[in-house]
Amino acid sequence: MFITLKIIMGDMDFKILEKIPLYYAFSELGKRISLPQGIFYWSGRAKKEAELIGTIGTAYAHEDEFITKGRSEWLPCYLEGINEYFKNLEMNDLVPYAAISGISELREIWKNWIIYKSLFNEKEDMEKLDRLKKYITTPIVTTGVTNGIFLICSLLLNADEYIITPNKRWGNYDNIIKGFLGARIKSFQYFKEQQFNFEGFEEAIDEVAALQNKVLIILNFPNNPTGHVPTKEEGLKLIELLRVKQKEIEKPIIVIIDDAYEPYVYTDNAMNRSLFYDLQDLDEDIIPIKLDGATKELLLYGGRIGFITIGLKPKWTKNENELEILKNEIDNKLSGLIRSTISNCNHFYQALMIKLFNTKGIEEIRKMREPIHNLLRERYVKINSELEKIENPNISVDPNSGGFFNFINLNPNHIKASEFAELLLTKYKVGVIPIEKPDENVNGIRIAYCSIDVVQIPEIVRRIKSALADF
Ligand SMILES: Cc1ncc(COP(=O)(O)O)c(C=O)c1O
Repeated sequence: MFITLKIIMGDMDFKILEKIPLYYAFSELGKRISLPQGIFYWSGRAKKEAELIGTIGTAYAHEDEFITKGRSEWLPCYLEGINEYFKNLEMNDLVPYAAISGISELREIWKNWIIYKSLFNEKEDMEKLDRLKKYITTPIVTTGVTNGIFLICSLLLNADEYIITPNKRWGNYDNIIKGFLGARIKSFQYFKEQQFNFEGFEEAIDEVAALQNKVLIILNFPNNPTGHVPTKEEGLKLIELLRVKQKEIEKPIIVIIDDAYEPYVYTDNAMNRSLFYDLQDLDEDIIPIKLDGATKELLLYGGRIGFITIGLKPKWTKNENELEILKNEIDNKLSGLIRSTISNCNHFYQALMIKLFNTKGIEEIRKMREPIHNLLRERYVKINSELEKIENPNISVDPNSGGFFNFINLNPNHIKASEFAELLLTKYKVGVIPIEKPDENVNGIRIAYCSIDVVQIPEIVRRIKSALADF
């Protein structure tokens, strides 16, 4: 029973391993690191026990919903026509090593993609566009966004130093920051009265600034697990807050922006582009680092291609020559990290992406993704409208307008999230992921609507409502 409870909460017991000589030989890291079992435990059980599964964080649909002559089979969503590129690659695309920092043609392609995603208009925003083109580094290729997070955190965080991130965040941040690097997370309450909690965020900055000579922050919009994207108004407030704070504390603020779900925004009042662009445009030492990739943007999860792009400030260099030298120096640092960890990234998928971009072009690729975007938006609308119908003082749904998930908070004095998930699964045959962090005031369930058929949503919500009535 004890083991099961620990697994539900995410930790594995190493009761045999800890007794053998191999364990005594482990480094501190070796002793500290583990793979939390929570998500795998619940998704594994959902596969076996549930009729309705809301645990899988990959976009799925019937193939004929997103491919012109698709079958009715339930499959991971992919871009129409992508299959051609798997068939038509040459040996030269498959066999060689890729350059350490990525194939240069792909790096240039992705830089253009980032510029395109800025939505800066060639005529109206000339100055901003020029600044963006000139002052961002050429993206470096990483093994998915995960590897980008790892490399950047390794570059910036010493053991015991703090990085700020909200209490509701992707669990892997904890593995990388605390588990691997032995650094610390300064958590703050994500929402206050159904809005981004600016006060909590500001307090966290003040606390960290008092301890360190730099403030590191990692933000992720659309967010996993809540689906939150700041409204345009919240976005402006966030940028202004950072600007004012940086002036006040007189220390650099580095904002790592995890844009894994960047294109999946479903409402008009939500920020329609990454925070990266506005932060890059500030003159203060607020240094944005963009992490994005093919994983979700191009629906190539297993391709493992991500990118790191850093926003530089004009005042840091005196002329073009210095700027180029600076870019090379940063490239060298990141390449050193890549060389000493993964050496280089998958060549096949980089070659595939080059072919895709060169034959289709940016605009066409965006259009190829539209059917999937529309499917996800439809589910987003449905699940939120169904959840709104539940009137129960012990639950609340976090503000959400994008991504793959949404999050239902449960009153911890009334229902423990893991007990609720257990009941949902055993009695109502619905699989969800409970997230329970009493010390960070998180107690709720994450629903991955990205992999739920829209017609099943009313039934899932009906069962959640019935399960709530059981408590
Ligand atoms: C917020 C967030 N960042 C990063 C990732 C990882 O992306 P990748 O598969 O490209 O490593 C995920 C995947 O679930 C995620 O939810």
